[in-house]
Amino acid sequence: MRFSRRAAVAVVGVAALLTATACGSSGDSGGGTGSKKVEVFTWWADGGEKAGLDGLVAQFAKDCPGQTFENGAVAGGAGANAKQVLASRLQQNQPPDTFQAHAGAELLDYINAGQVQDLSADYDTWGLKTAFPQGLIDNLTVDGKIYSVPANIHRANVVWTNKKVLSDAGITDDPKDLAGFIADLDKLKAKGIKSPLAIGKDWTQLMLFESVLITDLGADQFTGLWKGTTDWTSAPVTKAITDFKQLLTYTNTDRDALDWTDAEKLVMDGKAGYQLMGDWEAADLDAKNFTGYGYFTFPGNGATYQWLADSFVLPKGANNADGTKCWLKTVGSADGQKAFNTKKGSIPARTDASPADYPKYQQAAMADWKTEKQVPSCAHGSACSQGWQGAANSALGAFSTNQDVAGLQKALAAAAQQFAKK
Ligand code: GAL
Repeated sequence: MRFSRRAAVAVVGVAALLTATACGSSGDSGGGTGSKKVEVFTWWADGGEKAGLDGLVAQFAKDCPGQTFENGAVAGGAGANAKQVLASRLQQNQPPDTFQAHAGAELLDYINAGQVQDLSADYDTWGLKTAFPQGLIDNLTVDGKIYSVPANIHRANVVWTNKKVLSDAGITDDPKDLAGFIADLDKLKAKGIKSPLAIGKDWTQLMLFESVLITDLGADQFTGLWKGTTDWTSAPVTKAITDFKQLLTYTNTDRDALDWTDAEKLVMDGKAGYQLMGDWEAADLDAKNFTGYGYFTFPGNGATYQWLADSFVLPKGANNADGTKCWLKTVGSADGQKAFNTKKGSIPARTDASPADYPKYQQAAMADWKTEKQVPSCAHGSACSQGWQGAANSALGAFSTNQDVAGLQKALAAAAQQFAKK
């Protein structure tokens, strides 16, 4: 028997079985070999995220007649809920047919635990080794084997704006550095915008903090934090925490109860002028028909592209390996990447895409991706393992309440001590 998905239902309230193709086989219980259902486990349940997934599903329906898509999405930004449900399913040996995993350290967790299968031979068959940039292939490879197919590249260090809110306060230019950003936040406050910088709970605070770290440490030292070569107890980290603390004074006080979409709503409703968030926000604002937005790289980050990549795996013990392989082939294909990324706010992981097919934001991101310095993200698994991410999220969550600079630095240094690879 397949996993009942009761846990998923409890989280999202609904777990619909969606048929992706008219050719899909019916009457299949999904159990055992011979299944024609591909359960795709993500946290893309709504808005731009769902629109991206729908694009991929439509392509899958064309590419994989006879197979049906089963939506295993568990709502909650950054997989806050999904990852828990997934962990318990993997532990019980009841994996979905495929699941979303971030390239880099997060994927390594699943590889080290022996939970995902080697796809190297499929990479050869599908011609994927040359389709993706070498750096990304390196992030997916362990001991010469490749374990997942990347769907995209997202950018994390972007500030999204409500243009009208800014222009009403006389703000017409993007801030060049942190001091300029704070001056603009003050202008918004003076105009009666009480919480001009919208933010949500722990992982969204970690994202803002990581952006401040990039500004205060520079790209190389920032990357070194996750490689064990930059000291978490150093003075620049103290400065970053102090700057971050100052930024929090401009944020909504109910932040710890909000997901990223709730904070995004504050921007859309004109209650805030800014939000730091990954570029899934472009897709989500588009999906919600909010046209009055602008964006810029977090002030002081310079030409630094903080990247993360969603990739899909073939778990050990998947019920429908053939159908899953067809899904993975679609994910890695030029058509699949276009169907997905034009709606998801991300850029294709493949290097052969044509920018003209993409919305304006992604066209700019595609150009930046080629020229800017790339740094990974802990909040989205490219920089740190899930254990480290959990420790960082809870340290940020505690700081949101206690504002203890030394305490946060100590907790982050202890997490690095525990999780950084020696
Ligand atoms: C990230 C994921 C993105 C987006 C975001 C917000 O971890 O890579 O695709 O879904 O979470 O939920």
